[in-house]
Amino acid sequence: MGIDRVRWGIVATGNISTQFTHDLALLADDAVATAVASRSQASADRFAAEFGIRHAYDDYRRLIDSGEVDVIYIGTPHPQHYAIARTALQTGIAVLCEKPVTLTAKQARDLITVADENKVLFAEAMWMRTNPVIQTLFEDLRSGAIGEPQQVVADFAFHKDSLPARLLDPALGGGSLMDGGIYPMTFASMALGRPTEIKAVGSLNEDSVDLNVAMAWRYESGAVAALTCGLRSQNPWVASISGPEGNLQLPHRFHHPEYYLRTTASGTERIDVSVHGRGYHYEAADVMRALRQGLIEVPALPHAGTLEILELLDETRSQIGVRYPGDDDDLSG
Ligand SMILES: NC(=O)c1ccc[n+]([C@@H]2O[C@H](COP(=O)([O-])OP(=O)(O)OC[C@H]3O[C@@H](n4cnc5c(N)ncnc54)[C@H](OP(=O)(O)O)[C@@H]3O)[C@@H](O)[C@H]2O)c1
Repeated sequence: MGIDRVRWGIVATGNISTQFTHDLALLADDAVATAVASRSQASADRFAAEFGIRHAYDDYRRLIDSGEVDVIYIGTPHPQHYAIARTALQTGIAVLCEKPVTLTAKQARDLITVADENKVLFAEAMWMRTNPVIQTLFEDLRSGAIGEPQQVVADFAFHKDSLPARLLDPALGGGSLMDGGIYPMTFASMALGRPTEIKAVGSLNEDSVDLNVAMAWRYESGAVAALTCGLRSQNPWVASISGPEGNLQLPHRFHHPEYYLRTTASGTERIDVSVHGRGYHYEAADVMRALRQGLIEVPALPHAGTLEILELLDETRSQIGVRYPGDDDDLSG
């Protein structure tokens, strides 16, 4: 694809779209946000003025049809991801969509098929996978620094007196699992692969929104993972991988770290890796590299990884009793 500066369209003007668009400016030689769409023209105009974006639309579809973008970034709540991504892919516009990319594995599988059929790039914005510290840690693990990994422990729980309403609203895909739990799950999967057995317990509120979840994963190799997520406690929010020769530890907010600790028989070493910005430009740069290579899949954000985690989320939700409308959708026709 002979693109000079990749033209990005930003779908939705909320919290994460703002953070992503800030980071996109770090790639100004390569990328330009040319359009933004919101449910309201006033919000699109405000966002466009803040980031110097040329085109502002009051409808996501108008952005997709505008002819002004090569790729869209979707920053709506999870239940809206599927329809917007599907429309864009069918129109031939590449998609980077926030995590979880859909509510169900069925929907994710369908989007991957549509991307494939239309030969259009599709990626889940699981930015942890593209973080340079995370990538260095996994290179370290694969080089055998701590031996064969036996245990992964990771938690993603936080509490604020006033949580964003979306997190407690079942209609907006609320709950700790889909929003936060996806990180420890992805981390364990990156370290150990797909588990052979998973068990989960969860405490739900009166709206069937999960507030506290604990997961135990077992592997054929004998390895295990212990993962938690929640919206009611201020956790250490850390992750570790341990093997017979030592462990690799990620600090608070493990999903976008600035360093990690390697502990082996020779002591504990702090490994610093240069990172800058909020960290969202790494995934954007990977998307643009793949676009220029004519790929429909970003190597660091693989479709199989997206699907595996959605399947594990389906199973976990089923075990703890969290259901979404999409669970019953038949997408076969
Ligand atoms: N990668 C990360 O670090 C990260 C961090 C936080 C969230 N996320 C993900 O990003 C997505 C959005 O999270 P957020 O924190 O940015 O949410 P947010 O601040 O509530 O923003 C979501 C935006 O989506 C649009 N929207 C469309 N339909 C909506 C509806 N029915 N109700 C409310 N808003 C609607 C709105 O923009 P308009 O009014 O402009 O249309 C709204 O501002 C979620 O899927 C979440 O999992 C990722």
